Amino acid sequence: MEDKVFVFTIGTAGSGKSYFTSSFSDYLDFKKIDHAIVNLDPGADFLPYEPDVDVREWITVDDVMEKYNVGPNGAQIVSADLIATKAEDILDELDLYSADYVLVDTPGQMELFTLRSSSEIIIQTFGRQNCVSVFLFDPVISQRASGFTSMVFMYSSAVMRLNIPQIPVLSKADLLPEHDVKRILTWSRDTDALYDDVSKEKGLSRDLFHLLREAGLIRPLIPVSAKTGEGMDDVYDIVQEIYYGGEDLE
Ligand code: GTP
Repeated sequence: MEDKVFVFTIGTAGSGKSYFTSSFSDYLDFKKIDHAIVNLDPGADFLPYEPDVDVREWITVDDVMEKYNVGPNGAQIVSADLIATKAEDILDELDLYSADYVLVDTPGQMELFTLRSSSEIIIQTFGRQNCVSVFLFDPVISQRASGFTSMVFMYSSAVMRLNIPQIPVLSKADLLPEHDVKRILTWSRDTDALYDDVSKEKGLSRDLFHLLREAGLIRPLIPVSAKTGEGMDDVYDIVQEIYYGGEDLE
């Protein structure tokens, strides 16, 4: 198991986690790199890929609603917590695959994973040193400087909670006009430009902004698109850099 790299896809609801997972898998197929896909979302109705290991084999939100007599929101929380109890079973199933990469699609609402202990247990079981996460910035929220800064706060909470390398990406880049993509990328690389624009909108506390900046939490984004395949090679290169010193597995 030590040889596998686990790439978690993290992001707010609807930010494109499942489609990113699917598109990254297509890219790895194209490169002929052995990989497996794990679905960790017990509430998923539809997935754009065929998971090799699916937590819904053991836990679904519908079953939890019935068994524990809870409503849909409570069932989301209970089932997201229960996935931790299946971490070893997931690893056992993954043993059947000779995969260099394991792509892990996480539950719809990011707080159900990042803020709860299930993420800690799963990362510990998989081996923290083998885990990396791709954090998806929602393109629509990121269009405004204040929205982009809010995404940085959410990214920061994932950095703090998961304690694994994070690759921040601008999701669904094909959806935005080119000048909007450019502006968002500029904010991610030039914190003065971001501070100027966010101040015009909201007057964010300078101290709070400096905290983000000084902690290195405003990081250059990689634009990606599951629709066009843009950026998959860049994400792959960064993961390779982190785990294999840039060596290509192709
Ligand atoms: P939940 O797990 O349900 O919260 O969603 P998610 O974060 O997994 O998002 P998902 O991948 O299901 O994508 C949500 C919607 O965005 C779908 O309707 C996709 O068709 C669309 N989408 C995802 N990625 C892209 C992309 O790169 N480009 C475009 N244009 N649409 C995308």
